[in-house]
Amino acid sequence: MKHLEDIFDRLRADHDKHRDLLARLEQTSGETPERHALFEEFTLEAKGHAAAEEQALYSTVLRKPPLTACGRHSVAEHHEIEEMLNDLAATPMDTGGWLTKFRGVKDKYLHHIKEEETEMFPKFRKQLTEDDVVYMRQVFERRKPVEKSKADITPEKMEEAKD
Ligand SMILES: [Fe+2]
Ligand SMILES: [Fe+2]
Repeated sequence: MKHLEDIFDRLRADHDKHRDLLARLEQTSGETPERHALFEEFTLEAKGHAAAEEQALYSTVLRKPPLTACGRHSVAEHHEIEEMLNDLAATPMDTGGWLTKFRGVKDKYLHHIKEEETEMFPKFRKQLTEDDVVYMRQVFERRKPVEKSKADITPEKMEEAKD
């Protein structure tokens, strides 16, 4: 029963949703309403998830000396992914450049969540108590919808998109 209430299963469920969105996005082509809708949903999901994950989990992880380096690594990747998403949002969707950048985001994101699931979460779990992981889930459940609704697509000006 207990594992049903911990933060890690909840984060993994989001990761699975994100893998599915990325796979569906990759099947789209050109500037279509479907690609717009999936890109928007993935962006808001990924940004909302990262912010709530930092508040619920990484804030505590960073305070534990044996875990600080891992926490900094993940939070730095959140920032990198956000920058890549902002750059992608500023790139015309019907170009080869968009697809190349999308594949970069996809690879980076899949790497990030796999690393969390296989390396980070098991390491964190050993340093956290049962109460910690149950409480963290409550924080995540509360913060995720708020952060997702506050997130934006933030398209930079078209000229600012990186080549
Ligand atoms: Fe993350
Ligand atoms: Fe995550």
